[in-house]
Amino acid sequence: MKYSFRNDYSELAHPELLEALLQASNEQHKGYGMDQRSDNAKKLIKQKLETDNCDIHFVTGGTQANATVISYILRPYEAVLACSTAHINVYETGAIEATGHKVVTEEGADGKLRPSDIEHALKAHYDEHMVKIGMVYISQSTELGTVYSYNELKAISDCCKEHNLYLFIDGARLASGLAASDVELNMFKDLCDCFYIGGTKIGMLSGEAIVLFNDRLKPYFRHHIKNKGALLAKGYVVGIQFEKAFQDDLYLRLGYQINDLARYLTNELIALEVPFFSESSTNQIFPIFSKAVVEELSKLYDFEVWEEVEDGFAIRFVTSWYTTKEVCAELIEDIKSIMAQFD
Ligand SMILES: Cc1ncc(COP(=O)(O)O)c(C=O)c1O
Repeated sequence: MKYSFRNDYSELAHPELLEALLQASNEQHKGYGMDQRSDNAKKLIKQKLETDNCDIHFVTGGTQANATVISYILRPYEAVLACSTAHINVYETGAIEATGHKVVTEEGADGKLRPSDIEHALKAHYDEHMVKIGMVYISQSTELGTVYSYNELKAISDCCKEHNLYLFIDGARLASGLAASDVELNMFKDLCDCFYIGGTKIGMLSGEAIVLFNDRLKPYFRHHIKNKGALLAKGYVVGIQFEKAFQDDLYLRLGYQINDLARYLTNELIALEVPFFSESSTNQIFPIFSKAVVEELSKLYDFEVWEEVEDGFAIRFVTSWYTTKEVCAELIEDIKSIMAQFD
């Protein structure tokens, strides 16, 4: 079978997380996330957030988290503003729109929204004949592998506060985002109303932790999760994994590990004068190769062809907890010999 750089969820689960699940297999648990292990996990997460003043809810997927949160927060006539490359805009099959809320987009830059984009969108939606923008959605890290710095996030946050907009941060790839940026978990409470800590793409079987800071958002959120079909009977399956991931910083350690390997690949490719589609500092990188090179490389490896560009294709390599330095070195050697064939 070809080695896959297609995704960070191509493997079942990190052995330490599986081991934690296995150890819990002879325990009995309360259902629907009301169990002791989920409580422990929430305590550990709250320690990292440096606040008790938040509610945490576990769900199983990113699209589910996005649709649940956004449909909970917005009034019927309100829309969510996102970057045009945002997951909710491109890859969620209209899941947000299916809840009755338009996704309004601005082009942004490098996969990121700027305060000027928010101002621009607000100006364009000025009366009751248009949707009212009620919240801003951003992702950390972004769909192009870039990250918001603290100053960039603070500027977005201030802009949202000034215009009474909720700010929701999609953290499907937060571990990588934390390891690549100067934004730490204890900063989120002052920056946004709600965000989620992604587990699925950092080695969990599946699991996302939605964190609600804004008091207005806390009541009846569990009702809403259930109403959306997202309240898991075996909620402890996610709770146990988050407990383990936050017990000894496994979460962040894996974030650094996958970023280091992606950086190694990036540096080696830069040395080969390979151009990049985005300036990623996280575990998703987007090198550009000629069509011929992509075709040859795809005989040896599995990866996503991201976008057709002028000189060929931007492809995506994603590193995961399973990726090793050795397999990355092999990939580079194979790329070198394929590129040499087409020189
Ligand atoms: C930023 C972002 N948000 C949400 C998701 C959706 O997650 P899921 O595939 O679990 O629905 C992804 C998936 O790649 C993502 O990259």
